[in-house]
Amino acid sequence: MKKGLIIAIDGPAGSGKSTVAKLVAERLGYLYIDTGAMYRGITYKALREGLDLEDEKALVKLAGNTSLALKKSNDNLEVYVDDRKVTEEIRAPQVTNSVSYLARLPGVRERMVKLQREMGRGGGVVLEGRDIGTVVFPTADYKFYLDASLEERSRRRFRELIAKGYKVNLKEVEKEVKIRDREDRSRKVGPLKVAGGAIVIDSTGMSIEEEVEAVLKYIMK
Ligand code: DC
Repeated sequence: MKKGLIIAIDGPAGSGKSTVAKLVAERLGYLYIDTGAMYRGITYKALREGLDLEDEKALVKLAGNTSLALKKSNDNLEVYVDDRKVTEEIRAPQVTNSVSYLARLPGVRERMVKLQREMGRGGGVVLEGRDIGTVVFPTADYKFYLDASLEERSRRRFRELIAKGYKVNLKEVEKEVKIRDREDRSRKVGPLKVAGGAIVIDSTGMSIEEEVEAVLKYIMK
């Protein structure tokens, strides 16, 4: 295996890609970069500051003025916005349901892509998101696209939220996953799609361990 690879993992919400990317990075001793956490971080700050989510100019300005950092601590990836730890806060449903407002803005994406390229260019990284193989690192050594049926992805999200103590129902979660899918796939800049040359893995019915093995099989050969 070549050293210092750049590995891109994309896919829709609930495809298991965050967990898989994190475990693959651990197995390889690589840095794990959760790009969704970066979009969540600025969304969290926009909500906290009470910004109008339709105010493109203000949101792009905010993205330019915000420092984002991902730091590994034991088994966790801690997320910092302007040096304040917000790892838990950025997973709140209010943030999840507002991210698309920022993620669709070209000015916001431009800034995120620049940061992600800086973080990953040295190699030895697993980047996970929606546009890694298509926009951020189209020449990545390996590109994966993880997918699963809408029903399965919704069930996974539902269990995650319940485990965190949120009161949600499966039908509602499925509706939200569907909306986010549509928004992710239809935005003009950096939409979610299978990158050229990507290996597509459908994880419906697969355990996380099986997904990790499926990815590593390609890299370790
Ligand atoms: O992977 P996630 O659910 O934490 O991502 C949160 C949101 O961020 C998701 O709705 C889409 C957006 N996102 C994006 O537009 N581009 C990325 N590279 C990663 C995430």
